[in-house]
Amino acid sequence: MNIADAIATRRSVRGFLPQDVPQEDLQAIFQLAQHAPSNCNTQPWVVHVVSGTALRDLGRRLCQAALDPTQHAPDFPYDGRYEGVYRERQQDSAAQLFNAMGIAREDKSGRARSFLRNFDFFEAPHAAFIFLPEPFGLREAADCGLYAQTLMLAMKGQGVASCPQTSLTFHPAIVREMLGVPAAHKLLLGISFGYEDPQHAANLCRVSRAPLEATAIFHN
Ligand SMILES: Cc1cc2nc3c(=O)[nH]c(=O)nc-3n(C[C@H](O)[C@H](O)[C@H](O)COP(=O)(O)O)c2cc1C
Repeated sequence: MNIADAIATRRSVRGFLPQDVPQEDLQAIFQLAQHAPSNCNTQPWVVHVVSGTALRDLGRRLCQAALDPTQHAPDFPYDGRYEGVYRERQQDSAAQLFNAMGIAREDKSGRARSFLRNFDFFEAPHAAFIFLPEPFGLREAADCGLYAQTLMLAMKGQGVASCPQTSLTFHPAIVREMLGVPAAHKLLLGISFGYEDPQHAANLCRVSRAPLEATAIFHN
């Protein structure tokens, strides 16, 4: 797969087949992602890859905790509220996903059930948790963002689908406890991954993008 195809065809997948990605492919993917650039080559990401019963046990704990939104306590604040054009894009992408899944706008319980699927990793057989050690901040968080996209493109190259998820960071204490992660490592992002279930309705969703001139300004 060439790089343009990998970038253009990567998308967030929210329904997976149960098959594991072979260990040698996992090694190749994570090895390739190590090429991501970072400030002063600090490579501030610490990534925990979780599979098998460890993942299902973690999913059960996260699903339970997710039932009470007042208990969400992410390491990096997030209220999910956007304004103006950003709100429009958020609403548009949500509408496209719910349309694909046949969930009506007024179907609150359907939307809530769909949201809860995040915490069982959309049934994926693997998840990666990207941590940022203290005292790193915003600049190194950007490094982790570059790492995450590099990782997802490396997955794409191996035929592996993914979904980046802020929702997997709502209960960092549970993730740290179950994976034995030090308190000084702050949870920035989770990524569910595995082989796409092409029959899953959520995967019929194709979200659009703003026109180039809305986000890129060229100067001469
Ligand atoms: C940092 C980040 C966090 C995200 N968090 C979630 C999430 O918690 N749940 C989810 O279903 N999708 C999540 N997404 C996926 C976005 O909704 C998706 O990337 C966006 O709608 C564009 O669609 P595409 O990835 O299919 O191109 C996240 C994406 C990013 C980059």
